[in-house]
Amino acid sequence: AALRDTLLQMPKAELHMHIEGSLEPELIFALAERNKVKLEYASVEELRTAYAFKDLQSFLDIYYAGASVLLTEQDFYDMTRAYLQRAHADNVRHTELFFDPQTHTERGVAFGTVVNGIDRALQDARKEWGLSGALIMCFLRHLSEEEAFATLEQALPYRDKFVGVGLDSSERGHPPEKFARVFARCKELGLRLVAHAGEEGPPDYIRTALDLLKVERIDHGVRCLEDAELTARLARDRVPLTVCPLSNIKLRVFDKVADHNLLKLLDAGLVVTVNSDDPAYFGGYVNDNFLQMFEALPLGREHAYQMARNSFSASFLDAAEKQKYL
Ligand code: ADE
Ligand code: ZN
Repeated sequence: AALRDTLLQMPKAELHMHIEGSLEPELIFALAERNKVKLEYASVEELRTAYAFKDLQSFLDIYYAGASVLLTEQDFYDMTRAYLQRAHADNVRHTELFFDPQTHTERGVAFGTVVNGIDRALQDARKEWGLSGALIMCFLRHLSEEEAFATLEQALPYRDKFVGVGLDSSERGHPPEKFARVFARCKELGLRLVAHAGEEGPPDYIRTALDLLKVERIDHGVRCLEDAELTARLARDRVPLTVCPLSNIKLRVFDKVADHNLLKLLDAGLVVTVNSDDPAYFGGYVNDNFLQMFEALPLGREHAYQMARNSFSASFLDAAEKQKYL
């Protein structure tokens, strides 16, 4: 088969996807209407036109505004259902979804409303398509450690509904060490640990995420190549990087697709996976990320299979489930 068909058809896992980043403008408008929430944009087209970002913060401002239409459990179900349908079409067999409870609890939406809606959609996808899912609760790093602890407290009654915790939002100026104690507590609770690091922030944030937060995967991590010793360590310890190529282009981490360092990361021996991050905002779901990178860079079939295998080996599936895919 053509390489293109291999990319589309190969079974894959997605490990870096913010569920609130899957809200398409059409659904934002539909939910705004249903919930009588006022938007600052007059139309779907006007909102889509606003999706021209200069950096991470300019994206986050619009992303949090978009999430303001989510109020009921059904809203969280509908959002998650729409993403899972797209993922299924891309031959995603397993997905680990980030969610940002603080974005919703700050607005008076109960933690349980958020997690129950998302979880019900995950259960349906498993029954209907054999598509498995797991949730990773993210702490917003622009908020305080105290607020992260309060969120963890609210989450504990739902401990069986998520497998791990992550760290997202504005990276620069909010280094990993700000959350060292809350991550230590999460580790004691048996939660899996990941963090965004080295997206916009310096390679040192990758090092401190490993050393002080004890994370098992690095989300993004593309700036590691600026530090040879760190790169060697990531390769030696087989620390997976959940890379999101189209996100990096839209947020101006790299100027254009051909400038992305995906192949350099692979050549450095790193455990690279390809993911969509916030597909409604960055112009594509996971297969679009694969297609555009393979079009722009000299990547071949072996790279495709390697990254698909990596996506399962780096997942939080248990060993027996992983084995089915490896
Ligand atoms: N929240 C949603 N997408 C994000 C990203 N790419 N980086 C940091 N926080 C995020
Ligand atoms: Zn992300």
